Amino acid sequence: MKRPAEASGPGPAAVCRAPTWTPTRDLPPDVTLPCPRAVNARCAQKGVEMASDAEDRAMRWAIALASRSIGATSPNPVVGCVILDAAGQSVGEGFHAYAGGPHAEIRALAEAGVRAKGGTAVVTLEPCNHTGRTGPCTQALIAAGVARVVVAVPDPNPTAAGGAATLRAAGVEVELGVREAEAAAGNRAWLVSTRRAAAGDPRPYVIWKLAATLDGRSAAADGSSQWITSPAARSDVHILRSSCDAIMAGVGTVLADDPQLTVRDPATGVSATRQPLRVVVDSAGRTPADARVRDGAARTWVATTADVGAGPDGRVDLAALCAELFNRGHRRVLLEGGPRLSGAFLAAGLVDEVVAYVAPKLLGAGPTAVLDAGVTSIDDAIGLELTDVTRIGPDLRITAVPISTPKGE
Ligand SMILES: NC(=O)c1ccc[n+]([C@@H]2O[C@H](COP(=O)([O-])OP(=O)(O)OC[C@H]3O[C@@H](n4cnc5c(N)ncnc54)[C@H](OP(=O)(O)O)[C@@H]3O)[C@@H](O)[C@H]2O)c1
Repeated sequence: MKRPAEASGPGPAAVCRAPTWTPTRDLPPDVTLPCPRAVNARCAQKGVEMASDAEDRAMRWAIALASRSIGATSPNPVVGCVILDAAGQSVGEGFHAYAGGPHAEIRALAEAGVRAKGGTAVVTLEPCNHTGRTGPCTQALIAAGVARVVVAVPDPNPTAAGGAATLRAAGVEVELGVREAEAAAGNRAWLVSTRRAAAGDPRPYVIWKLAATLDGRSAAADGSSQWITSPAARSDVHILRSSCDAIMAGVGTVLADDPQLTVRDPATGVSATRQPLRVVVDSAGRTPADARVRDGAARTWVATTADVGAGPDGRVDLAALCAELFNRGHRRVLLEGGPRLSGAFLAAGLVDEVVAYVAPKLLGAGPTAVLDAGVTSIDDAIGLELTDVTRIGPDLRITAVPISTPKGE
């Protein structure tokens, strides 16, 4: 399989560059060592653990492997694993492709076979310590005779955590936190929703996607809105959809636009094999029987007050809706509007990320992308931190996350 350009595989590791952590008088930074294990041996003597260059390269590759199944593993995280033999050579790799399927470590160990003995497992998430639909990866690593495990992100899931402690108790050297931020980025939705659930607030990570003109309009004065953004931006939305477990819209959007809410190639109309759940938030069940969201292209849930209960305004209780989506295994949900439902989600503090496609157009009149988000004063504005700005064709894609510090600080 072709490797992504941004992350090369671990490759040969017969020699490695000395890392810069160590005092240069002990180990000059340009020294070439015969084997990465030698670096680790020196680290161990000093009571310091760190990844060798080969392990670091392997971690980059494991992160790339994990990214292949973003959008396909819920309620599980994405995980990638590379096994290095005792000489630091890559002898096995794997990723977790779908919930219920083999974990990344199991696939990588299967490829490595006996060559895993005395080697290192490099894995993007702390190996699980429990028996779910598959057995604990810690026991598989111990049984394979792995000497060292290098982990990017500790597992926040209380039922699966404790893998590092189990491995250490069995005499396996464990290092945590290698390229943690990079690995966590690919699992952001899973990590946020899992930590929240552990704190008693189970709900998915919600991404609100909007398309607007430079003056914030989502349609012209006559109601026409197709298309505000370019074909390139609309293609990008389908990639975003494919990374999510569910796509949500209010019944107002369904009645106005009759969207299909599927993942497809907008140029050819060809649908993706794996489709997220379609969710229509529709208090009284007004979604027409012949609406495109009810076609056979994907599963659909028309979520009514009868299903999840009503909020104080008599409409669908959005917190209860989110809790139900979490219970059904959805961790990453794309909210595609429209303005009323998006405003209600923002007002309820249920949006974790905003992805705005902004077209360099001005309309001067027409509906805005969001209505009534519970903000009446500039002091109450929902503050966002930009995390990415990318030009997509003629448009901008702006990604931002709500600033969680209390207002006024
Ligand atoms: N530019 C964009 O990014 C974008 C994206 C999507 C849509 N749009 C445009 O938005 C327009 C439709 O706007 P809209 O605001 O009517 O549609 P909407 O936000 O999709 O749907 C609003 C409806 O959702 C239902 N709903 C159920 N529970 C709710 C709750 N707790 N809070 C709020 N709403 C709840 C309500 O109907 P019930 O009370 O009957 O349940 C409400 O009228 C269309 O013209 C479409 O083109 C633009």
